[in-house]
Amino acid sequence: MDKKIVLTGNGFILRDWKNGDEISLQKNADNPNVSRYLMDRFPYPYPLEAAIAWVNSQVGLHPVLNFAIDIAGEIAGGMAIELKEDVHRKTGVIGYWLAEQYWGQGIMTEAVKLLTAYAFGHFDLVRLQACVYSKNYPSMRVLEKAGYHKEAVLQNAVFKNGELLDEHVYAILK
Ligand SMILES: CC(C)(COP(=O)(O)OP(=O)(O)OC[C@H]1O[C@@H](n2cnc3c(N)ncnc32)[C@H](O)[C@@H]1OP(=O)(O)O)[C@@H](O)C(=O)NCCC(=O)NCCS
Repeated sequence: MDKKIVLTGNGFILRDWKNGDEISLQKNADNPNVSRYLMDRFPYPYPLEAAIAWVNSQVGLHPVLNFAIDIAGEIAGGMAIELKEDVHRKTGVIGYWLAEQYWGQGIMTEAVKLLTAYAFGHFDLVRLQACVYSKNYPSMRVLEKAGYHKEAVLQNAVFKNGELLDEHVYAILK
């Protein structure tokens, strides 16, 4: 049975990770402008070893919760759905990044809409949320354009690159 899931956007697809993605992942992830407002587990510099470890951890996983953004066969970014547990089990948390060369073309807005529809369609969720660090205005804008609403600002919740940042919590309900 073919379990592969491909979500098709305008000029890109969201697909599962596969062997061979390591080189373009490393090339496009290795950028301080990409990692600036991401968790520290997305490192800068981003070595090939990190790309290999990431792809190895993802190949063959079902259900697919982590998607590669594929443009012309190369890794142009990534998206994730984290399924919360216990009393939070009807909530999913999304995250995403895109290679800098593709910013400002509406790609992530469309990708978030696709991922949101996929998440509500495939999992028993009533709520999706995303957490954006202060000053990451493009990401806030992406979420607003995709139908998410800002629910809260958690002051000084994030310590990134030696700086305290607020965390802006966005959500969309099914
Ligand atoms: C955030 C990110 C995903 C946006 O992707 P993208 O494909 O460029 O986003 P889109 O083109 O769909 O939309 C970006 C919006 O931000 C706006 N924007 C860009 N810079 C801005 C700024 N400084 N202030 C306010 N809005 C800004 C754009 O004008 C656009 O809105 P518009 O369509 O109303 O003009 C991308 O910049 C990225 O990967 N950043 C690094 C990783 C990251 O921060 N991920 C999110 C973690 S929460």
